[in-house]
Amino acid sequence: MASVPSLASSLHQRIADALSAALPEAGAADPLLRRSDRADFQANGMLALAKKLGGNPRELAGKVVEGLPAGDLIKDVEVSGPGFLNITITDEAITKTLAARAADERLGAPLAERPGTTVIDWAQPNVAKEMHVGHLRNSVIGDSVVRLLEFTGEKVISRHHIGDWGTQFGMLIQYLIEHPHELDHKAGGEVSGEEAMSNLNRLYKASRTLFDADEEFKARARRRVVNLQAGDEETLALWQRFVDESKIYFYSVFDKLDVEIRDEDIVGESGYNDMLAETCRMLEESGVAVRSEGALCVFFDDVKGPDGNPVPLIVQKSDGGFGYAATDLSAIRDRVFNLKADTLVYVVDVRQSLHFKMVFETARRAGWLTDDVKAVQLGFGTVLGKDGKPFKTREGETVRLVDLLDEAVDRAAAIVREKAQDLDEEEIAERAAQVGIGAVKYADLSTSAARDYKFDLDQMVSLNGDTSVYLQYAFARIQSILRKAGEAAPVAHPELALAPAERALGLHLDQFAATVAEAAGEYAPHKLAGYLYQLASLYTTFYDQCPVLKAEEEAQVENRLFLCDLTARTLRQGMGLMGIRTPERL
Ligand code: ARG
Repeated sequence: MASVPSLASSLHQRIADALSAALPEAGAADPLLRRSDRADFQANGMLALAKKLGGNPRELAGKVVEGLPAGDLIKDVEVSGPGFLNITITDEAITKTLAARAADERLGAPLAERPGTTVIDWAQPNVAKEMHVGHLRNSVIGDSVVRLLEFTGEKVISRHHIGDWGTQFGMLIQYLIEHPHELDHKAGGEVSGEEAMSNLNRLYKASRTLFDADEEFKARARRRVVNLQAGDEETLALWQRFVDESKIYFYSVFDKLDVEIRDEDIVGESGYNDMLAETCRMLEESGVAVRSEGALCVFFDDVKGPDGNPVPLIVQKSDGGFGYAATDLSAIRDRVFNLKADTLVYVVDVRQSLHFKMVFETARRAGWLTDDVKAVQLGFGTVLGKDGKPFKTREGETVRLVDLLDEAVDRAAAIVREKAQDLDEEEIAERAAQVGIGAVKYADLSTSAARDYKFDLDQMVSLNGDTSVYLQYAFARIQSILRKAGEAAPVAHPELALAPAERALGLHLDQFAATVAEAAGEYAPHKLAGYLYQLASLYTTFYDQCPVLKAEEEAQVENRLFLCDLTARTLRQGMGLMGIRTPERL
């Protein structure tokens, strides 16, 4: 569908034209248009321009005003202060633009003309390990960024770089060989995610204990690693059982989290095994990596340890083993040359920033990343407890993600039940999941990813304040008005004068497409969250000040219903891009 230019961009264009007519030597100067409290918009560009070209800014501003076309967009424009323009838009232009948005399924948001291909690395738990709060972030942020990018028309390929390789598998597999029924499922029965994880946990602990206590087992476990790496079939088959069992668990958690993961996108560390030796050979032959004390290393002038000695990126250890870096470098080759990515995004904890800095730089030196390929780590901060320290249980253990999600859903159930008038138990459970999980996602997405945030369930499920529950209630309230409207339908009436709260809501609704574009372009879901929160607040003010179904004239009822409907659609679209559900009733 057609994209709808926003009022801000139409206005920007007109002022820019008037500005270059008034001052041809300025070329294509930016009028610096902003939303403003005094009028609808303020243009500040004349100040800097007059300063630069040595003129009087008020005079220049006056000329620009004269040059503005009379028309249906601008209602009023005045020069104020040292040379600002205060601009008021006509009510008619606001309603007409919103009507054009409402006529489009995408609310007037454009699709990229020449979309690129982004490979995004997100939701990467580790085999045979519990998922913890860190995996909340790489899942929730990743999911939202995928949705945002896809919405702009980008081709997006997900890669879940799960930790499914490493020496610990020698120990696990050897233990399973010696205790062959530890991962068996009850005859014919399917095992739940919880059971799968508890089996894996039990096995992990038992094998670790044996490994630490029994030298002979340790030796057998080490030989098992060698077999695994050599591709011994029996060993690989057992390894696969750990992966499969873990996937049962992962999927159950993703399901609870309401995040969709596709099996073909799970390409874990093991998926690059065949490339590792070649990656190292290429790096060594090109001189990008050098042998140092037997290890294959890449050095950087600006990466030094506390002792001042350079800290290299180790691509192959002195015992011949390949590590995390070799895998990531191989993954870059795969993503650039096979998947044809022009952008690589990694949704990974900021604590891995140095790793990615070195990996990207190495790939550039090797020529695998060129000027045509952008690589970014979307690094996220730590989830903190109420005490401001990294989130731990009272016993000092890492918090299991499932426990946290269950608790959020329980809290939400209490709220839904309190508010529910006509909901049965099944509906309460469904709403509670949508509210509880939405709350957790929103809290994660509403601060900029790089920052740490406190995991505070009381705050997250609060009905007032910057929470998803507040947004969900605004949405549900609108749905209830629309249901009650009976015969009256949402219809835009551009001829009607707008009340201040209607104008404020309308001008904000018009910014949706631009906000989504910005959030997608900067991988910044928090910008969308901030926009939606403001939208819900402006709607609340509108709702308090402007009677909808009891408005005086029929045309006004219809126009207000139209604003309600567009607000609801904008909320649903926007929250959908954050992976948050919008129940019709709450
Ligand atoms: N599995 C890792 C972890 O849990 C994250 C993997 C990140 N992705 C990557 N390509 N290195 O910390």
